[in-house]
Amino acid sequence: MEEKEISGAVIARLPRYFRYLGELKDGGTERISSKELSERMKVTASQIRQDLNNFGGFGQQGYGYNVKFLYEEIGKILGIDQKHNLILIGAGNLGQALANYVNFEKRGFIIKGIFDANEKLYGKIVRDIPIRPMNEIKACMEEYDIDIAVLTIPKTEAVKVAEVLVSYGIKAIWNFAHVDLNVPEDVMVENVHLSESLMKLSYNLNRYQEEHRENR
Ligand code: NAI
Repeated sequence: MEEKEISGAVIARLPRYFRYLGELKDGGTERISSKELSERMKVTASQIRQDLNNFGGFGQQGYGYNVKFLYEEIGKILGIDQKHNLILIGAGNLGQALANYVNFEKRGFIIKGIFDANEKLYGKIVRDIPIRPMNEIKACMEEYDIDIAVLTIPKTEAVKVAEVLVSYGIKAIWNFAHVDLNVPEDVMVENVHLSESLMKLSYNLNRYQEEHRENR
């Protein structure tokens, strides 16, 4: 496949395509037109065609898309055709909730270690994985070839801990702490802030309510 720069907006839409196609595949659908897919996903058919054209199209005139093929190709683009080993730092409410979520594993994201600074948590098991002290991270990374760290610790600690992880060779951080991490350029950080998503919802709700009020 030809290498070209894909916009962040397109990449951000791929997981949704992947999810819908996965559901279609599991439901036994072998092919689907961009029109049908657009009706299901509530985006325009031309948006779908444009998005998928970035990766060479995959569709055939008069046939539509081969669901399994497209699902697998998008999986490859997203890098989830291969397994990724993860460690999770911060086994509090959020950390344990994430570690308990089985679907990450189904997507190939395998948590190999859970670490925390609170010794009272050591030995506690979360889905077969014991919570361990921070000084065991390095050995775990070497043993399991860890490429992603999940950070679910307070923001006051996150910058410092991220620096330590980088010094151990981590290349990707899934950051839930509400702080910008200070990492070298070759380390990827994906920030996840549920409250930002909630604020977006609140903005849309406010707009809707205002329009509704004006129209009365
Ligand atoms: P929590 O207090 O239940 O858990 C935090 C855990 O981090 C504790 O087990 C604590 O011992 C551990 N910890 C503290 N300092 C540490 C260090 N230096 N090294 C290793 N472990 C350390 O808190 P909760 O509710 O699980 O939240 C965790 C973080 O996630 C917070 O920063 C919170 O603001 C953030 N958060 C983010 C959300 C998001 O959407 N991004 C949603 C909810 C929480």
